[in-house]
Amino acid sequence: MTTSSPYTTARIRSDFLDFFRGKGHEIVPSAPLVPANDPTLLFTNSGMVQFKDVFLGAEKRANPRAADVQRCLRAGGKHNDLDSVGYTARHHTFFEMLGNWSFGDYFKKEAIAWAWELLTQVWKLPAERLLVTVYHTDDEAYALWHEMIGVPAERIVRIGDNKGAPYASDNFWQMADTGPCGPCTEIFYDHGPEHFGGPPGSPDEDGDRYIEIWNLVFMQFDKQADGTLVPLPAPCVDTGMGLERLAAVLQHVHSNYEIDLFQALIRKAAELTGTPDLENKSLRVIADHIRACSFLIVDGVLPSNEGRGYVLRRIIRRALRHGWMLGTRGPFFHRLVGTLATLMGEAYPELPAKRELVEKALLAEEERFAETLDAGMKIFDEVAAKSDGCIPGADAFRLYDTYGFPLDLTQDIARERGLTVDIAGFDAAMERQRETARAAGKFGGGVQLPADLVAQLQPTRFVGYDRLEADGLAVLALLKDGRPVDAVEAGDEAIVILDATPFYGESGGQVGDTGELHGVETRFAVSDTQKLAGQFFGHTGRLQSGILRVGDTLAGTVDGQRRGSIVLNHSATHLLHGALRGLLGTHVAQKGSLVAPDRLRFDFSHFQPIGGEELAEIERRVNVEVRANHAVVVDEMGMQEAIDAGAIALFGEKYGERVRVVKMGDSIELCGGTHVGRTGEIGLFKLVSEGGVSAGVRRVEALTGQAALDHVLGEEGRLREAAGLLGGTTAEVADKLRGLLDRQKKLEREVEAYKAKAASGATADLGAQAVEVHGIRVLAARVDGLDAKALRDALDRLRQQLGDAAIVLAGASEGRAALVAGVSGAAAGRIKAGELVGFVAGRTGGKGGGRPDMAQGGGADGPDLVAALTDVPGWVAAKLSAG
Ligand code: ALA
Repeated sequence: MTTSSPYTTARIRSDFLDFFRGKGHEIVPSAPLVPANDPTLLFTNSGMVQFKDVFLGAEKRANPRAADVQRCLRAGGKHNDLDSVGYTARHHTFFEMLGNWSFGDYFKKEAIAWAWELLTQVWKLPAERLLVTVYHTDDEAYALWHEMIGVPAERIVRIGDNKGAPYASDNFWQMADTGPCGPCTEIFYDHGPEHFGGPPGSPDEDGDRYIEIWNLVFMQFDKQADGTLVPLPAPCVDTGMGLERLAAVLQHVHSNYEIDLFQALIRKAAELTGTPDLENKSLRVIADHIRACSFLIVDGVLPSNEGRGYVLRRIIRRALRHGWMLGTRGPFFHRLVGTLATLMGEAYPELPAKRELVEKALLAEEERFAETLDAGMKIFDEVAAKSDGCIPGADAFRLYDTYGFPLDLTQDIARERGLTVDIAGFDAAMERQRETARAAGKFGGGVQLPADLVAQLQPTRFVGYDRLEADGLAVLALLKDGRPVDAVEAGDEAIVILDATPFYGESGGQVGDTGELHGVETRFAVSDTQKLAGQFFGHTGRLQSGILRVGDTLAGTVDGQRRGSIVLNHSATHLLHGALRGLLGTHVAQKGSLVAPDRLRFDFSHFQPIGGEELAEIERRVNVEVRANHAVVVDEMGMQEAIDAGAIALFGEKYGERVRVVKMGDSIELCGGTHVGRTGEIGLFKLVSEGGVSAGVRRVEALTGQAALDHVLGEEGRLREAAGLLGGTTAEVADKLRGLLDRQKKLEREVEAYKAKAASGATADLGAQAVEVHGIRVLAARVDGLDAKALRDALDRLRQQLGDAAIVLAGASEGRAALVAGVSGAAAGRIKAGELVGFVAGRTGGKGGGRPDMAQGGGADGPDLVAALTDVPGWVAAKLSAG
């Protein structure tokens, strides 16, 4: 199918770049799928994203012309094609965009001329198969196509604002709701009259005949949040051509899924899922999704329940469900990564470089979802069977909450069966659960502020960044037993809300301060400080003396030693975060932290345990930063300024207009916490534990300052003690211990050998004690100190030695007797070992049983045992004559 065409996807990429290199363009590598520090955008959805600041004039490039092949994702945000994947011939979540740019350099004329030259002269597409559109008012573009290129008027279509608002048009391109935008001209390819569909602008434009292959955008404006268009400093060109669509045209196939790259992926997916039909829709979905998922992980996203991580999880789970539909029950998806790396590794070397990480992360998610996918599908079937065409919201929520089916997955399955899902019902169920969680959750230390109080109060001003004492603090409100009161008396537990305070209220993982509030006669011991309703600092504690009234003025003193330990841990947390990202990769994102006086805890996304050597390296790197004694610089600035300065903004996190930026060395974080003046104050950083919290989230705990030193001293003390016991120096501990363990093993082996020897010695002459009963040799003997195993060994030897025999041995030890019995030779079938052992056990108050040839039991040692053993020959004789 594709073999007849020389235009492999690899060749198209290189032809494109070569062509524009020849026109003076700088070739730029693809940016990651996660836009660097752009919270307005979920994913890189087109080639121009990495040049946004250049268009806006905020960044200058040495060469005003650039070209690249950009990996893009349209699965969330303004551009989202996830729901179309598998249903059309040319939609993808992940795709590659070939683009050329002019940053205030060339404009419409060159952009149009070069696009035409590349398509018709390099790639030799027949001109009569090409059609173009222009924005309805763009007479300049129209004239260039018509007069300069010679495209006949009937193949130039003007498109207006066809999407219901000014500038909402197929021929007016915008990256997002705000930002660079402008009119565009698009080039279409006519796949021929054998396909259904009409030209752009006609009612049948969505058919498969006329396919857009290249979009040339003339960037002229910066769209504001209020909809106004502000002209850019200089007009620019931004073009985008879908590699997969173009490959379909050049390889003479109709669907993108028939091009070389996809066919290879589809064949591998078919092999892994045992699917003979290569046209199967599910294979297409899997082939699409492995690209999106692999590159998301390469670019630092890991499956999670929020933001970008949740988009990734949704795409993976959709792919897994398609594998499930093909009958696959084990993990398979991660096994496509190798094939993908072979196909795309040359164009994107970061993929083969991170192959192992991608495979591990996908496998972990496959294993996780495998636990519920099967059960969830059964639930879906039951619900679908009962439904009237619409899956109830409560059921969709149950699938989401208990079985890990993202809503869009449930919708996707429903759509295949011609069903819908009650979204409003789903949202309501979700909201109910949030309410319940909120009601049950600890909110501001478990204290809910009455709404009327909240309305009256001014937020508390925190004055404790650079001092631990302050006076003139007005008591705005007092809470006793959770209710506002006018006054509290000595002995009362209460919460004091002040207009300003040097006490840090717990937030961002840093625990609240403790200390004392005092007036002339009042003393209030503060045991914790919490932010109530996010902005009122509640000082929890007990009034030691006096009476405290609303309106009183107090002075406050924070426990400085405790705060001193807290700041060491907080600053160390930032250094740790930086070291983790530096060593493990930028997929490491903070998932939670605790900054307490005695230790720090840091939770972060990572898919596997961190080995001992890596931990040592992290510790080493943090301590290097400590010793560098960086000044900790704290600045207040606008959010955009902070991002430009390189501060890490957490996606999905809400920040105010003004943000606080804490910088130490290379670490720059948005943070409201309290910190050291210089990193050297941390003294020493020591990791003490590493473990998993949940799938994909690891936790480390660490100590700083005196606590770290005490920890090291404690460990050293234990080591010295061990060295003393071993009779050597601490450096010799391991060698001495190894020697000792080797010696112990040797001794154990020797003991075993002696035991075996002693046992065979003790039983060697037992054979002589056998008596003859009707041709059967009967042996019933008591031996000392043999355990069950030694008894069995002795029994085996005696059976061999005695031939036709019935044997019962009693190994006596500490008042108990272990019994074994066996029969061999002519006795077999006539005497049952189980009955024999049962006879002796029964007489000694015990039990026994087993197979006819070999049985075991136990009873009490003593005169009864001796008597029973003496009676065995008589018992055997009776049995033989009875048989
Ligand atoms: N930025 C334009 C697009 O994505 C070229 O279509």
